[in-house]
Amino acid sequence: MSRTCTSDVLVVGGGIIGLATAWRAAQRGFDTAVVDPEPGGGAARVAAGMLAAVTELHYGEQTLLGLNLASARRYPDFAAELTEVTGLDLGYRRCGTLAVALDADDRAHLRELHALQRQSGLESEWLSGRDCRRLEPMLAPGVRGGLRVDGDHQIDPRRLARALVAACERAGVVFHRMWAERLSVVRERAAGIRAADGTELAAERVVLAAGSLSGRLAGVPDEALPPVRPVKGQVLRLTVPKRYAPFLNRTVRAVVRGSHVYLVPRENGELVVGATSEELGWDTTVTAGGVYELLRDAHELVPGITELPLTETRAGLRPGSPDNAPLLGPTECEGLLLATGHYRNGVLLTPVTGDVMAHVLTTGELPEEARDFTPRRFCAAAVEEQPA
Ligand code: GLY
Repeated sequence: MSRTCTSDVLVVGGGIIGLATAWRAAQRGFDTAVVDPEPGGGAARVAAGMLAAVTELHYGEQTLLGLNLASARRYPDFAAELTEVTGLDLGYRRCGTLAVALDADDRAHLRELHALQRQSGLESEWLSGRDCRRLEPMLAPGVRGGLRVDGDHQIDPRRLARALVAACERAGVVFHRMWAERLSVVRERAAGIRAADGTELAAERVVLAAGSLSGRLAGVPDEALPPVRPVKGQVLRLTVPKRYAPFLNRTVRAVVRGSHVYLVPRENGELVVGATSEELGWDTTVTAGGVYELLRDAHELVPGITELPLTETRAGLRPGSPDNAPLLGPTECEGLLLATGHYRNGVLLTPVTGDVMAHVLTTGELPEEARDFTPRRFCAAAVEEQPA
């Protein structure tokens, strides 16, 4: 087949990042299209949906923290707008998070995180083990203390994705349900894509927002190719029968023997347990070892989970970048922009990414809050300029 469709903005990738970009672009009056065989899929189908700017703070990621907080601040209005436009409930729950320690090593790690949070001006309260159990009676008696972070919330990423598809449709975004195979470059400028079935989609600007697959689109010039890699996460879904509710009141998380484990309770009774972090290329197999480790660690935290039905196991691929931060905005290839590399923070960063990309598409410039996330920071010249 060979048919040509033209748009102002063509977004490659219909995950939540691509959809938020397309929605905001269409609201700004751009004639916008998304190319994806299954819009609303991608890593959001697996993700737990923690909005955890404070509890997922890491040393060396203070720049990213600024963007994470900017997005967290936007969430209430973003969620309300999406619900108003679509009539869909997003499972947005301002429930807070409790990060707990099970042994002396975990407690030392949490104390350090607490110090870093306070240095960064973030709200987080140290609690004794007894106070943690008062908040969450299902916690193991051995919990040695924890951090209460009332500002770290959650959303249901699957509902978010469905709502974004609906919002895009209402805003006039055109969906091309096909695989983008190759970027078309005409006179050194991105001019659209060619799909796997031969369809040509022409566009003034192309936004590559294909998550971990973003580095694989054929035809992208080397200097514009995003350095993203897949980082596998296995995630379990359990169901809390009504007679056990409320099983947990808020997200509960911990580092157990060096691995992160979190339990995210939804209002509809779903309990999401995640996640492994594995550098295994494109493999998305759910393994006995992955399920075992998650259940073992979650059981140490909350022994009662062994009573719950295990309803789903799944693996997804986070789009990892060299500095764990996203790549947003124009590239060295004119007409080609990136919105990828969101790694562990894709759900959290969805609102700010949509706004940032709409701003760039309108003005040609990244807004101040996103300047540090230019893809150009990974270009050879920029890397050479870094102090040794
Ligand atoms: N942000 C949670 C995860 O990546 O597992």
